[in-house]
Order: sequence, then C-alpha cells, then structure tokens
Amino acid sequence: MTNRTFTMLKPDSLEKGNTGAILEKINAAGFRIVAMKMTHMTKRDAEAFYAVHNERPFFGELVEYMTRGPIVAAILEKENAVEDFRVLIGATNPEDAAEGTIRKLYAASIGENAVHGSDSDENAAIEGAFHFSGREMF
Ligand code: RTP
Ligand code: MG
Repeated sequence: MTNRTFTMLKPDSLEKGNTGAILEKINAAGFRIVAMKMTHMTKRDAEAFYAVHNERPFFGELVEYMTRGPIVAAILEKENAVEDFRVLIGATNPEDAAEGTIRKLYAASIGENAVHGSDSDENAAIEGAFHFSGREMF
C-alpha cells in the first residue's frame, strides 16, 4: 500500500461547491483515483475515524463538523502518495499553508480545513478500509 493515500473532501468543500476544483487539483498533481464515493459520516463513524484525537479539546467540534454534511471519500495512488498528498494539501492551519496548496486556496480555518490526507502508509490503509470494501477499489 506504499503508493496509496486516503482523502476526504470535508463538508465545507461540498457546501461551498469546491468539489470539482479540488478534484482537478488532485488530478493535475498526478494522483490516480482507486476508489471514490460521496457519503455522510454518522457521529459514530467520525468518532471512530478520528479516535486518535479523542482527548483533544477540539474533538467535539471536529466530530460536529465532519458529520454536518456529506463528504467525498477517495483512495489515491501515486508514487510517494502519502507525503506528496500532504504537500499538495498544505498545513493543517490554512494561515500556515503554502501558496497554491488546497488548504491555502479553499480552507477557512484550522478547524474547517477543506480536506483530509492520511499521515502514514499504515493509516492510509486503515482509513481506506474504513470507507471502502475491496470490491470498491479499482
Ligand atoms: P487531517 O487528519 O484531517 O488530514 O488533518 P491534519 O492531519 O492536518 O491535522 P490533525 O492534527 O490530524 O487534526 C485533524 C483535524 O482536526 C481539526 N483540528 N481542529 N481547532 C483546532 O485547533 C483543530 N486542530 C485540528 C482539523 O479539521 C484537522 O484537520
Ligand atoms: Mg491528521
């Protein structure tokens, strides 16, 4: 799985109509779409997906945000996918994100930051399997 990462276009991206523009950036950066769907996470889904952050002060807000509307979930393939995708999306806080990155262009704040990207190969595999069965990966 070292050539794969997992992403979600978060609810704010869909609310603002930025889905197409963000997918275009992902495509232009050379990622191949292995799996993709629009879905709406339940509270239980979001709590499980972000369980690593459950002691953090922003956890409640994060769950509220991630469940307030649909998302686009996708598995992406490219050499060095995890690292290259983190570069493409930019820093967690859009104020710190480099020019031209997805978060610089489309994120409103550290809390509402447009897009998720896996932080390791191991988590990319876990997160991809959270949202997709093997029959949904191509
Ligand atoms: P992500 O997992 O969504 O790709 O984001 P990340 O690695 O850049 O950041 P992480 O530390 O994993 O945080 C997960 C998400 O929690 C929200 N957050 N809010 N209010 C805050 O201080 C705060 N800090 C983090 C963001 O939605 C962040 O992407
Ligand atoms: Mg993270």
